[in-house]
Amino acid sequence: MPYTLEQFQRDVALSHLKYLTPEERAAGIPEDEVRAYFEEQRSKKIMIKELLKKFSAEEILDYFENKNDGVKWLINGEQHNELSISDRGFQYGDGLFETIEVLNGQLILFAQHCQRLTLGCKKLLLPEPNISLLKQEALALIKNCQHGVLKIIITRGSGGRGYRQPESIEPTRVLSLHPYPNNPDSFQQQGINAIFCQQRLGLNPTLAGLKHLNRLEQVLARAEWDSPVIQEGIMLDINDYVIEGTMSNVFFVKDNILYTPSLEQSGIAGIMRDFVLKMTHALAIENKQGLFTQQQLLDADEIFVTNSVIGIWAIKKLAEKSFSKGQITQSLQTALAEYKQQFI
Ligand SMILES: Cc1ncc(COP(=O)(O)O)c(C=O)c1O
Repeated sequence: MPYTLEQFQRDVALSHLKYLTPEERAAGIPEDEVRAYFEEQRSKKIMIKELLKKFSAEEILDYFENKNDGVKWLINGEQHNELSISDRGFQYGDGLFETIEVLNGQLILFAQHCQRLTLGCKKLLLPEPNISLLKQEALALIKNCQHGVLKIIITRGSGGRGYRQPESIEPTRVLSLHPYPNNPDSFQQQGINAIFCQQRLGLNPTLAGLKHLNRLEQVLARAEWDSPVIQEGIMLDINDYVIEGTMSNVFFVKDNILYTPSLEQSGIAGIMRDFVLKMTHALAIENKQGLFTQQQLLDADEIFVTNSVIGIWAIKKLAEKSFSKGQITQSLQTALAEYKQQFI
């Protein structure tokens, strides 16, 4: 049976109701939430109409459903997407990754992503990555891509008895180009809804900051909600300090000072987090890093999350509390948009 507009409408309404306070429930579902989802559906319809001018309906279905999901792959420089089952990335999560925004055939903050990757390789005792080769392959893959996401994975390759490393390490290099996610403009303009996750982050100073392949904590945290009106979950560590989002870093503003959790024990040192911290100097925004509680986050004047793909999204609702996008969040969003202007 086809999924009808009415069913969709009802599903959005039902999933949203779970997260409303009793007062809000009595008042009904905020209209902008529902409108954002209809807008997303509408833009999908427009895209399909455009595609129908060039391709048959069967070709489009093939493309979206299974045969080709719009992803291009390069493994060790070759165009395919098959990997040996003995690869240690698969066996042990023994590797690292980067996710980079692509704009008009260019890689945003590529040097910074390469720096984190190189540092990660050093910490995980992997050979130093060949950055000029990576760049050459990445540019070939993203040629003609207007807006997308490039993912780079480096693993320790195959071999070794048990956990022991092989005598000679031949890393596997996977590059994949993905379509840019189709997020409604309202996430950027008004902000998103978030919850606190139950899943806690363990502490590990050796691995903290790295974008390594072991992401089970995030996978379990992301499984805690399936409502389309919730976009992010905020994660605490085992001592109940706020660390980051399931896919982002978190910042908050209190009395004109910008705060972000320090990431010495857990969390990923995001490239966008670093970029935001650098922008605070130019914008003369005082900032502090430290350990903060759930309550401190809830008492904030502004909250936002960052990553390399979404940029900066304000949080407009966390748990049961509403926030409005403040001046500091807006000024950082503007500064990021100005930076990106050179790629457009
Ligand atoms: C758990 C987690 N923290 C932080 C980030 C932000 O990292 P970046 O700014 O490098 O995209 C991500 C991005 O995917 C993430 O998954």
